Amino acid sequence: MSDRAFDVVVVGSCMTDLVSQAPRLPKAGETIHGHKFFIGFGGKGANQCIQAARLGVKTAMICKVGKDFFGDNYIQNFKDNDVHTDFVWQTSDAATGAASITVNDAVPWEGENAIVIVAGANMRLGEEELQKALTAIRKAKVLVCQLEISSQTSLRALQMAHDNKVRTIFNPAPAIPDLDFGFYRVSDVFCCNESEAELLTGYSVNNVEDAHQAAQELLRRGCTAVIITLGPQGCVVLKAQDKTSTHVPSTAVKAVDTTGAGDSFIGALAFYLAHHPDMPLEEMARRANQVAAVSVQAVGTQTSFPFKRDLPADLF
Ligand SMILES: Nc1ncnc2c1ncn2[C@@H]1O[C@H](COP(=O)(O)OP(=O)(O)OP(=O)(O)O)[C@@H](O)[C@H]1O
Ligand SMILES: *[C@@H]1O[C@H](CO)[C@@H](O)[C@H](O)[C@H]1NC(C)=O
Repeated sequence: MSDRAFDVVVVGSCMTDLVSQAPRLPKAGETIHGHKFFIGFGGKGANQCIQAARLGVKTAMICKVGKDFFGDNYIQNFKDNDVHTDFVWQTSDAATGAASITVNDAVPWEGENAIVIVAGANMRLGEEELQKALTAIRKAKVLVCQLEISSQTSLRALQMAHDNKVRTIFNPAPAIPDLDFGFYRVSDVFCCNESEAELLTGYSVNNVEDAHQAAQELLRRGCTAVIITLGPQGCVVLKAQDKTSTHVPSTAVKAVDTTGAGDSFIGALAFYLAHHPDMPLEEMARRANQVAAVSVQAVGTQTSFPFKRDLPADLF
């Protein structure tokens, strides 16, 4: 095991996207011909980790994949992105997480789709693995978690980080309606999108004004700061020490594929929290907006995430 200290440690999911493009979605029992097939790397945890790594911080991923081709392939993908892989475990008890996606359009991600997700090995990540990675968690500057793994494991990882004064980012995605309030208490930055904010608070969140309200409600539950992302509108930031939240607008760009924009934003936020710990959260959010805005101008998930070399120097 490595004793190196990491800037950003992500405890989360890896998924292989298997994407078929077809003129329409097949009916039950039907076989149709598609015109294109491709494999993509996904999973919110891995996406966020890879975005942080591409901006130039030392990252480690704590996750579980299958002892199979997709697992081997994913480990190589982490290595290619300079993500440390000592804490990427392989199990023979379940397959690497996979999403089988059928898209009914010639342009990927723009038509209707049908998706089956099998979390597989992601659900086998537990306390035992967290204990083995305890040194890396303790020494990290920032720890990031989502909900695509067992929520118990997520909460445990956040608690371990919190107990060791490691700053935490929690992204409650995909959202669950009765989220354990423990999650709020161990989140330094609780970062979600509009639909997650809506599900968690019960408020309807359709605009900036709604987001200000929802942020207040989430903050009351015990986190240190809340960010609600608003797609092309940027985000709203609310810190415990302030009474009012701030709208941090995004610059207008021509979006071609917004898949993974939220993960690009969170990966960038983790980067800033680790690299510029004393920067105001609003400024980190402004810069993360800019990183995510670059990601929506290219096709794919990780394939659209910018590297440091693609971005203006004043973002660093
Ligand atoms: N059309 C856009 N133009 C500019 N920036 C965008 C656009 N869409 C998203 N972003 C940027 O990405 C961030 C995250 O977007 P969003 O709130 O849609 O997250 P999300 O719903 O989790 O994303 P997704 O589910 O598509 O990955 C926004 O806060 C913003 O900075
Ligand atoms: C928010 O993120 C979830 C994934 O967790 C996604 O399914 C949903 O479409 C997103 N909502 C918005 C408004 O972008």
